[in-house]
Amino acid sequence: MASVIIVGTQWGDEGKGKIVDLLTAYADVIVRFQGGNNAGHTIMFDGHKFILHLIPSGIFHESKKCLIGNGVVIDPSVLLQEIDNLTSKGVSVEPGKLLISERAHLIMPYHKAIDLAREAKAGKTKIGTTGRGIGPCYEDKIGRRGIKIGDILDQDLFRAKLSETLEEKNFYLEKYLSAEALSFEEIFESYLRMGERLAPYVTNVAVELEKARKQGARILFEGAQGTQLDIDHGTYPFVTSSNTVAGGACHGAGVGPTTIDEVMGICKAYTTRVGGGPFPTELSDDIGLHLRERGGEYGSTTGRPRRCGWLDGVILKEAVRLNGLSSLTITKLDVLSGLDPLKVCVAYEYEGERLDNIPGNIKVFSNLKPIYEELPGWQEDISAIKRLEDLPENCKNYLKFIEEFTGVPVNIVSVGPSRNQTIVLRNPFES
Ligand code: IMP
Repeated sequence: MASVIIVGTQWGDEGKGKIVDLLTAYADVIVRFQGGNNAGHTIMFDGHKFILHLIPSGIFHESKKCLIGNGVVIDPSVLLQEIDNLTSKGVSVEPGKLLISERAHLIMPYHKAIDLAREAKAGKTKIGTTGRGIGPCYEDKIGRRGIKIGDILDQDLFRAKLSETLEEKNFYLEKYLSAEALSFEEIFESYLRMGERLAPYVTNVAVELEKARKQGARILFEGAQGTQLDIDHGTYPFVTSSNTVAGGACHGAGVGPTTIDEVMGICKAYTTRVGGGPFPTELSDDIGLHLRERGGEYGSTTGRPRRCGWLDGVILKEAVRLNGLSSLTITKLDVLSGLDPLKVCVAYEYEGERLDNIPGNIKVFSNLKPIYEELPGWQEDISAIKRLEDLPENCKNYLKFIEEFTGVPVNIVSVGPSRNQTIVLRNPFES
């Protein structure tokens, strides 16, 4: 397979980072296509701990190219911090190794200010955003008043765009959100300076991808967040502001759908969610606590404790449909050891009626009762198991249940955080 997309099937935090890191060894090019520094994963390299929010973890490999596509929203100060941090620890981030789409939109200081002030004003109805300015940045992109990274390389164009936009933003910040207005000169000067530093990385990523494909490169598209956070298909309005489904890789990087060979869905063996919004299988009891503590379920971007619950099969089936999944990876299976019985939600009940699909109405979705199927659990620690056949029988049955329920094969099983705690049944780049 030459082009593989990895997406999250739930509400993000499925452990995509580890699987991307594992498959990066087999890829030549790694591409981010949506989201921004609301995502993040921790990588250990050469005894140093790195938290990457924007740069793909392929950067640790000498010969790989890391691309940031047009669909990503970039906070240039965060990107530069990542570049500086990597460089200071001996990881090369040369232009040519890291490439950034000239069309990627920039997160501006007013986007962050608006995100934070809006959430504060919303009180109980807040989304629970990461406060990184993601939503307001995508709003401006769609509203055709966004500033692209390519724009700040042209002083006159940048001055004209910023002065027009900032007047409106300051009015909104001061008059509606009771927040402080921002200084034109400060933003203009700092973004120009950051633009100068980033200029050598900025290029046409779609052209680079076409070149790579023609040379037979293996390309890994790395999704951020998860299917239920998709702006169109997720639990709106409790979603992020980009298309997190696999189709987003095409418009977010500039490739056509016929160039994609495989879509891998990453699914945690249970469910977590961070931020507000409905979560039918959420557990607020000891089992929920077990999942949070054993699974280390705290956000890598904001440190917030994640809400935890049983695996939701309805959501998983939805991910199969929306992403056209060709395979599944089940992560954190080891966290379920010691829980018996296990429950998987197979449908919902709403006012006495059975629902097999997710309702579009958020009020209905918020008042669903999960219908569970119980499966026997296992007590054994499975974190050192290397082969599928060595897993406890009930553990194998849990995986078989997921395959039969979704109709999609499980190709990778993760039983712990390290790379060697992974059972790979089929590697998409080797078949
Ligand atoms: P935003 O993306 O910062 O606008 O946040 C919108 C919603 O998406 C909030 O509920 C966040 O907690 C959630 N979210 C954004 N990025 C991630 C992620 O990488 N993992 C899990 N949840 C996320």
